[in-house]
Amino acid sequence: MAAIVLVGAQWGDEGKGKATDLLGGAVDYVVKFNGGNNAGHTVVIGGEKYALHLLPSGVLTPGVVPVIGNGVVVDLGVLFEEIDALEARGIDTSRLVVSANAHLITPYNRTLDKVAERFLGSRRIGTTGRGIGPTYADKMSRVGIRVQDLFDEKILRQKVEGALEHKNQVLVKVFNRRAMSVDDVADELLGFADRLRPMVVDTATLLVEALDNDCTVLLEGGQATLLDVDHGTYPFVTSSNPTAGGACTGSGIPPTRIDRVIAVIKAYTTRVGEGPFPTELFDADGVRLQNVGAEFGTTTGRPRRCGWFDAVIGRYAVRVNGVTDLVLTKLDVLTGREKVPVCVAYQVDGARHEVMPMTQTEFHHAVPVYEDLDGWDEDISGARSLSDLPAAAHAYVAAVEDMCRAPISAVGVGPGRDQTIVVRDLV
Ligand code: GDP
Ligand code: IMO
Ligand code: MG
Repeated sequence: MAAIVLVGAQWGDEGKGKATDLLGGAVDYVVKFNGGNNAGHTVVIGGEKYALHLLPSGVLTPGVVPVIGNGVVVDLGVLFEEIDALEARGIDTSRLVVSANAHLITPYNRTLDKVAERFLGSRRIGTTGRGIGPTYADKMSRVGIRVQDLFDEKILRQKVEGALEHKNQVLVKVFNRRAMSVDDVADELLGFADRLRPMVVDTATLLVEALDNDCTVLLEGGQATLLDVDHGTYPFVTSSNPTAGGACTGSGIPPTRIDRVIAVIKAYTTRVGEGPFPTELFDADGVRLQNVGAEFGTTTGRPRRCGWFDAVIGRYAVRVNGVTDLVLTKLDVLTGREKVPVCVAYQVDGARHEVMPMTQTEFHHAVPVYEDLDGWDEDISGARSLSDLPAAAHAYVAAVEDMCRAPISAVGVGPGRDQTIVVRDLV
């Protein structure tokens, strides 16, 4: 029946995990369609905190089938560590299925990610060091190792050997590292084969059949719009397509089956890693957002760079993703200010831009044009309807909706599952 896409609108960490968890009770399948364990989603249920990286957030909802789609890059060691950690806390992960076509993050991909970043020096991306970029590069270069290769040992060894012929040259001659042995790499991967096998299915067929059988499928994006390799702030991006289009290629669900596109958007802006960020704050306001919003990475623990809400980016995300619903998160973090600045446009080399500039050079030169909205002092973490909000907080929500040109269907007022104002049902 319904296929719903959920993506991040900014540079990640908008609260996609919480939003997915919120919808979990109303959907049958939750599919991760891009990225890998570069993602970090914190979900708080009844005071219990869960940090998810590779597993779709739907794994926390009883009855939901979590799916790792073909567009994901899988580090098998991390996958089983995450499964074991959840099982130890009483979470049933037995319904998890994994696409036979998903690519595997190999030891050389992890090493190359780290050494390439070091090599780049001041031009580094600030990756999570998980091997994401090199694994997607192998996929595109047609030398990647896929989940299904684990079930044909001869083919697997051949593929690892073929890949290492080139990788070892690069590791040794360019980066001055030790060469890796075919057997070591193949044996590490094969060591997971028996445990993985029962989980592996043709997920594209499974999902389309589920839709035919009136099931609801939620496609949960990792990363976010501005980290998209095509539509983001290239080269300071991840190596996949976290935007709505990527949900189709990364899952095998055709575009004509998508009913709704939800974008999760934070009431201010954060970014981890390098790259341009027009509304970034370097003063006490930025530190305050970081501390009050607990803006420290779930995956790498790095402090997140913080800045004011940027409506140019909001409008861009609405357009690129074809957004039908916005989920505005972390409104509570803005409490306690007399005025809250929001960026309504950019000045770029003397010209006003209401939309994203065409070139990266212009984006680097973008100076935010701010409007000050009224702030509020009241604690809003207990609000459960828009009418519970102080007038200024309500007006902030209305202003974001107006500036982004898409309806806000839910507002987050705290990390807890129940700390949400649902304006209209998302499923
Ligand atoms: P994701 O990567 O998009 O899933 O987001 P992260 O989990 O990395 O970061 C979002 C953080 O904000 C998590 O620690 C959430 O528990 C928390 N969070 C989500 N929604 C809200 C909200 O409305 N208010 C507050 N205060 N915290 C929230
Ligand atoms: P979630 O799903 C925030 C950033 C990294 C780096 C760039 C490339 O939790 O929102 P990569 O390791 O992917 O090659 O790094 O992308 N990045 C994220 N930033 N949230 C994420 O995921 C991210 N995943 C990658 O910091 O700048
Ligand atoms: Mg995150």
